[in-house]
Amino acid sequence: MAVSKNASAARKEILDMLIEDHKSAKKLFRDFEKLSQEDAEERESLVSLACTELKLHTQLEEELFYPALRGALKEQDLLEEAEVEHASAKQLIEQLDSLDADDPKFTATFKVLGEYVKHHIKEEESEMFEQLQRAKVDWPLLLEQMTARRMELEMELGLAEDAAGDDESADAQPVGAALEGDDDADDAGKSRGGRRQTIE
Ligand SMILES: [Fe+2]
Ligand SMILES: [Fe+2]
Repeated sequence: MAVSKNASAARKEILDMLIEDHKSAKKLFRDFEKLSQEDAEERESLVSLACTELKLHTQLEEELFYPALRGALKEQDLLEEAEVEHASAKQLIEQLDSLDADDPKFTATFKVLGEYVKHHIKEEESEMFEQLQRAKVDWPLLLEQMTARRMELEMELGLAEDAAGDDESADAQPVGAALEGDDDADDAGKSRGGRRQTIE
């Protein structure tokens, strides 16, 4: 049926969008490991980008994605757990916002955030997302809402300029690009409309 096909395509697009964010976050944590202690400026800008991307992602999930799964997901406690994990991550992000890169706690705080985020991503992808095939959710509507909200948040958080490829990009590459030069880095600040094909 055309309707259910649209629904599953929309569901896939939503999950692709979220998984793409997860990949970008994991990559930024990996990139951080490669920076030397002396690169205070780069470390600070990488951490700031990671925190901003995480703010967008967690807000999108909390405002739209998780509420849509309330009552539709088989294991509702996964949502409670996810929200508690978001709250812990937010506390660390707040701490990082007020720390300088040369503060001894800076690296430790970001590393702990990385551990939390990786654990959380694993649970979402291997438990929560796995249950969505049978969940009764209006996927096309949710996709529309999430795409619109994402654009707003990108503007609010200053991530939208990267997407437009403004003139800064010519001389100031994203931190990740300078480190690895792979395609993920180029996509780091771009709007992710679910172009990725695989769900791992
Ligand atoms: Fe997520
Ligand atoms: Fe999440």
